[in-house]
Amino acid sequence: MNTWVVTLGEDAVKMVAQWIRESSYTVVLTGAGVSAESGIPTFRGRDGLWNKYRPEELATPEAFNSNPKRVWEWYKWRMELIAKAQPNLAHIVLAKMQQKDTIGPIITQNVDGLHQRAGAVDVVELHGNIWRVKCISCSYASKLDSPPEEIPPRCPECGSLLRPGVVWFGEPLPEQAIRRALQEASHAKLILVVGTSLQVYPAAYLPVLTKNYGGHVVIINPTPTPLDDEADLVIRREAGEFFEKLGKELGLI
Ligand code: APR
Ligand code: ZN
Repeated sequence: MNTWVVTLGEDAVKMVAQWIRESSYTVVLTGAGVSAESGIPTFRGRDGLWNKYRPEELATPEAFNSNPKRVWEWYKWRMELIAKAQPNLAHIVLAKMQQKDTIGPIITQNVDGLHQRAGAVDVVELHGNIWRVKCISCSYASKLDSPPEEIPPRCPECGSLLRPGVVWFGEPLPEQAIRRALQEASHAKLILVVGTSLQVYPAAYLPVLTKNYGGHVVIINPTPTPLDDEADLVIRREAGEFFEKLGKELGLI
């Protein structure tokens, strides 16, 4: 299959719009890049968080067990950043596409909740949500609407530590989320892969699944990904710019 790698001519937008109209079932996979234009740093690439911080010190169960305060300081910083961030045009157009049933679920690796804040109603959060907290000892779980005052926060039921409700390296993904994502990707006739480096599994496997079941893959990313050669179309552009044009082409904005 020859892959078209295009920048962003009008014909590329028209082509994707046509594929979406013809697709009986389109799903979307997003990563940190879809929130980059909202001012939320990505993990890899030029200014990625993992260039400045070591994930082993901040995003693993071992890191939390050895220094919960340090881990919470980092999550509190990210929560404050996310609380100030606004959904960008990519989130907004994707939400409008979903409201018009143009696309099915948005499967996201992001924990920032910006798809939902943009109005998306069917979001599969593979890696959890930064506003969720859960107790490390009892079954207490809750959703915060602002960063915790005291860190590390304590469980109101048993006094033990609360941890962020996100998936850390080495942890299993939420069973229901990954099961749904695999099912949706295998049924999709088209998957739009937006703003992910496709370095982390099983999320990175989803577009391969769509392809293996005969679906088409469109990647929207300003830099190359390991899946570019398998994709039917690669749009070498930022998500905000692409979805602004697609939103206009589909008459959504
Ligand atoms: N529009 C589209 N894509 C963009 C933009 C943009 N404006 N800016 C950056 N990108 C792309 C980058 O080129 C990169 O390929 O977004 C991608 C971000 O990749 P990562 O930072 O690796 O984020 P992601 O793929 O979501 O990481 C997956 O890794 O650390 C874990 O749990 C974390 O969920 C995260 C997972
Ligand atoms: Zn508890």
